[in-house]
Amino acid sequence: MNGIIENYKELIDIGNARPISMGEGGTPLLRSEFLSKKINADVFIKVEGCNPSGSFKDRGMVVAVCMALHNKKKVLVCASTGNTSASASAYAAKFGLVSAIIVPNGNIAKGKLSQAMAFGAKIIAIDGSFDDALNIVRKLENYDEIEIVNSINPYRIEGQKSAAFEILDEIGEIDSLCIPVGNAGNITAYWKGFKEYRDKFKFKLPKMYGFQAEGASPIVRGEVVKNPETIATAIRIGNPASWDKANEAVTDSKGGVHSVSDSEIVESYKNLARKDGIFCEPASAAGIAGLIKFSESHKFSGQKIVCVVTGNGLKDPETSEKHASSDIFEVGANINDVLKIIR
Ligand code: F0G
Repeated sequence: MNGIIENYKELIDIGNARPISMGEGGTPLLRSEFLSKKINADVFIKVEGCNPSGSFKDRGMVVAVCMALHNKKKVLVCASTGNTSASASAYAAKFGLVSAIIVPNGNIAKGKLSQAMAFGAKIIAIDGSFDDALNIVRKLENYDEIEIVNSINPYRIEGQKSAAFEILDEIGEIDSLCIPVGNAGNITAYWKGFKEYRDKFKFKLPKMYGFQAEGASPIVRGEVVKNPETIATAIRIGNPASWDKANEAVTDSKGGVHSVSDSEIVESYKNLARKDGIFCEPASAAGIAGLIKFSESHKFSGQKIVCVVTGNGLKDPETSEKHASSDIFEVGANINDVLKIIR
């Protein structure tokens, strides 16, 4: 199966490195009848939880790892709120590298930690935040055997821009993109991808709308958030690495960055499951929460819009148990008891 490197080889430059793949990219782009009706627009969802390790990170990871192999690196290192570490450790396992992941102790979703454990990563849980972890990682830059695979690695952005190409290839130009923002690498990557396709195929550029969680919204507030807090642990970040690039994307595209509350995130997370059949993790629902919250002020009505749903809900079973559970009917093992419930 081709991955994004082969599929977009004219636009993803790996020099003479050997392309690799775990089948990343090619994720579903589904029309949401519920959201389209709700805001009177044509709304599509890019289901990034369908990537090999369950999040969009694989698009960038495959290019970063391809180059790490080419440059004879031995160890992949990242700071992570969970998904980058799951992705890095999957690719490390497949391609014979060591992965060392630095995560905020007690603040990453259970499923993501299980992935890193299963893939055999060295898990380093620090007494600090994602931002602290990234500060440590930055200091590891000059060790020869180490490849840093956070989105400060430009190859991560090169890979992640492929999602913009896929959208344009499938449904043509769009008016707006709604996307969750944490460390701000992904919004940076989409904007780069849209601009490259515009230059090549003369597509119109969409407006870029980024959404942060209220308790972790440094870009919206215009200042570092010392103790970020949100149910959406994936985007619990107070000092994003690609802050300036995110601002550039929303300013140049005449979009915006806004915040959504945890209860708005949970509401969209539940609706996405119950109306669209898509089980995502809470951070992934921030773009949809934003779409609904700002649909009037940004005149989304009548537009063609894509919401990026970044990661799979299976990664965070604790949140679904707490906020999106259903009754479980415990009955005897006989047809009458079962029929009583069904009817
Ligand atoms: N959604 C999910 C599910 C994520 O895991 C992340 C980031 C984002 C959105 C935000 O993307 O950082 O490019 O703005 N997760 C990183 C991690 C920080 O370590 O897995 P961003």
